[in-house]
Amino acid sequence: MQITQEGILNALKRVNDPDLHKDLVTLKMIDNIQVNENKISVDVILTTPACPLKDKIQQDCENAIKEDFPEAKEITIKMTSKVAAHANEVKDAILPGVKNTIAIASGKGGVGKSTIAVNLAVALAKDGAKVGLIDADIYGPSIPLMMGIKEKPRVYQDKETMKMLPLENFGIKLMSIGFLIDDNAPVIWRGPMASGAVKQFLSDVSWGELDYLIFDMPPGTGDIQLTLAQTIPLTGAVIVTTPQEVSLIDARKGLKMFHRVNVPVLGIIENMSYFIAPDTGIKYDIFGNGGGENLSAELEAPFLGGIPIDPRIRIGGDKGVPIVFDIPDSEHAKIIYSIARKLAAQISIRNSNATETKIEILMES
Ligand SMILES: Nc1ncnc2c1ncn2[C@@H]1O[C@H](COP(=O)(O)OP(=O)(O)O)[C@@H](O)[C@H]1O
Ligand SMILES: [Mg+2]
Repeated sequence: MQITQEGILNALKRVNDPDLHKDLVTLKMIDNIQVNENKISVDVILTTPACPLKDKIQQDCENAIKEDFPEAKEITIKMTSKVAAHANEVKDAILPGVKNTIAIASGKGGVGKSTIAVNLAVALAKDGAKVGLIDADIYGPSIPLMMGIKEKPRVYQDKETMKMLPLENFGIKLMSIGFLIDDNAPVIWRGPMASGAVKQFLSDVSWGELDYLIFDMPPGTGDIQLTLAQTIPLTGAVIVTTPQEVSLIDARKGLKMFHRVNVPVLGIIENMSYFIAPDTGIKYDIFGNGGGENLSAELEAPFLGGIPIDPRIRIGGDKGVPIVFDIPDSEHAKIIYSIARKLAAQISIRNSNATETKIEILMES
């Protein structure tokens, strides 16, 4: 059979995106089909560079083409990506170049929320996404230190308004609400200030184009957190918990809070899940077992994964070089990469469902 663009497209109609449950042709993910005698090349445009199924999709495409055209000598499947944007008018007004905004939240402090926010941001950037990170924890802004950043952002005049340039390290852009707060201001003042000034603050930063902007939220589920969750136009939230019962109760409260303001919970991450003794390799469940997974089942929010306790994770934070950057081949960094990819997939699924709902509504009306 002669190899044609149409024939290749037909073969690729049998390849599904396992997350989006549709074939790549229907999803408009196929581009630039080239046939040169019996050499074939095809571009696949994924919805995120951090796609956990990149290799599988690539292999499935190759297999489908081989099946229909056994005579093909060389099949090149080039994997590219274009991150889908969360359609939200408020977000577009405040953060015009930002496609998705994600809150990292926790019911209480000290569960590793900031550590996870930093490592997820760096992991997504290393996978090829454009990423920004905002330290919105007014109680204890810690992200600049964890990112090895000591300076303050530069301010410049852009026509009538003053703009701020985000700081940069490890390929991501960073801002902290801490830059707004006088270190000596009492915490009681920070709440109203934060929620009132956040919108302004966000639109005063020249972010440029970003695929993902990650917010390290203040811990807890009180008024300040609620106001922030309403103020920031969020694509979704991620809840960090530890396996302990008290921490899980707090995580439940966090989930309820986001439901109240109509922000979808994209997933649950369990931190400090277990410890593997480096000398014996024995696994210890220090804070219990299975809490995050049970919570995810109970609350019908995806479980994105569990991160073990490891001194290298803490040391990375203390010295300002996140473990996913410093020791990317370590087991712990690999776990965080896998969580980052699952999160990116959840965002793609949400955005794809939202587009469909919109089309359905348009067709009905
Ligand atoms: N998986 C982990 N293994 C070891 N230490 C961790 C881990 N996660 C967090 N830590 C450490 O625990 C402390 C609290 O983490 P942090 O990210 O600041 O929590 P939060 O932002 O929730 O208050 C920090 O010293 C951090 O380095
Ligand atoms: Mg923190």
